[in-house]
Amino acid sequence: MTKMNEPFGVYVHWPFCRAKCPYCDFNSHVRHGGIDEARFLAAYLKELAHFASLTPGRDVTSIFFGGGTPSLMRPGTVAAILAAIGGHWHIEHDAEITLEANPTSVEAENFAGYRAAGVNRVSLGVQALDDQSLKALGRQHTAQEALAAVALAKLHFDRMSFDLIYAREGQTVEAWEEELRRVLDHAADHLSLYQLTIEEGTPFAARHAAGSLRIPDGEQASELYHLTQELCEAAGLPAYEVSNHARPGSESRHNLLYWRGHDYAGVGPGAHSRVTTSGAKRALSAIKSPEVWLTQVETTGRGFASEETLSAAESADEYLLMGLRLSEGIDLERLAAINGNALDDARIRTLESEGLLARHETRLAATRKGRLVLNRLILELAA
Ligand SMILES: C[S@@+](CC[C@H](N)C(=O)[O-])C[C@H]1O[C@@H](n2cnc3c(N)ncnc32)[C@H](O)[C@@H]1O
Ligand code: SF4
Repeated sequence: MTKMNEPFGVYVHWPFCRAKCPYCDFNSHVRHGGIDEARFLAAYLKELAHFASLTPGRDVTSIFFGGGTPSLMRPGTVAAILAAIGGHWHIEHDAEITLEANPTSVEAENFAGYRAAGVNRVSLGVQALDDQSLKALGRQHTAQEALAAVALAKLHFDRMSFDLIYAREGQTVEAWEEELRRVLDHAADHLSLYQLTIEEGTPFAARHAAGSLRIPDGEQASELYHLTQELCEAAGLPAYEVSNHARPGSESRHNLLYWRGHDYAGVGPGAHSRVTTSGAKRALSAIKSPEVWLTQVETTGRGFASEETLSAAESADEYLLMGLRLSEGIDLERLAAINGNALDDARIRTLESEGLLARHETRLAATRKGRLVLNRLILELAA
């Protein structure tokens, strides 16, 4: 049962990008002719009003502008959305307000405006520290430009993170070690380090299927993963989630809210939400096409593609799936409270003896080795 004083987040999805990166399957679109930003803003405000009517009295503990590329938004648009959130709900005084930015020099010029609008944390998509890799990833910035954006972000924001993609084409363990050491020299309090995933329907997937894109897999991918954990831990940024590292206390509060199974309202094309109403968890997802979403919100005040109430078993599976991504794992008592069933003890013991799971009082977590085979673990536990 969700309590009123549990964390509650607002996610704002901005679905536009300057160019589409060939590995990415996020809901992001390129509109060369530009967009009517004022018209989109009006629709975001309408959707926020709808969510406020579903979740009265909640205190907002975090807000996240994700994308797409939210750093293409005018600071005034960000300020208007934050003002509307503050009008509908109480925003806690220490709420974490993050905006995802691409590290081009043009976007860095907006940092002061975002800070003035109320953003207090940025997350930059640096992706790689060499220009050849950035080109291969289809990025619109050089490594030097990205590092300049990192330095500027540190001046404007108390908290900042950046993302890298590793296990890229042709990347050796030695090359990643050298790159990661440089990354750590520039890191602030948080880093997201993702292994390149081949996403269905992307240009990378086509090249991978045709054999013209080879990326580290199996033994080599796990070596890259373990090296990442070791170097980050030694630098004081241990993993708190499969791909996320932070100085203790600097974990992303907004992302923790997803992994810990708390409620959030997501506005914008393709955004997902989890809100508890009348004691039941509802899962909502918005229409992905920006223009179809816009028209739908303008005419009906909401832009959902699906709305469903999760059963207790579905909620429990979701908590297991998300929570085991975290180093802290899940609370077995909370899991049992969600659907009334405990996990199979014999199965847990077998996975513990394989070194994949560890139990500590009422908590159950995947070990570092276990997080590498998380999908298998979850399937076995949920079976
Ligand atoms: C919503 S995306 C984008 C943020 C921002 N638009 C940018 O590209 O800088 C968040 C992060 O997901 C990661 N990502 C996206 N697609 C990926 C893939 N196929 N494999 C691994 N990481 C990926 C990238 O590191 C990216 O920065
Ligand atoms: S990685 Fe970022 S910039 Fe590239 S297409 Fe995806 S959301 Fe857009």
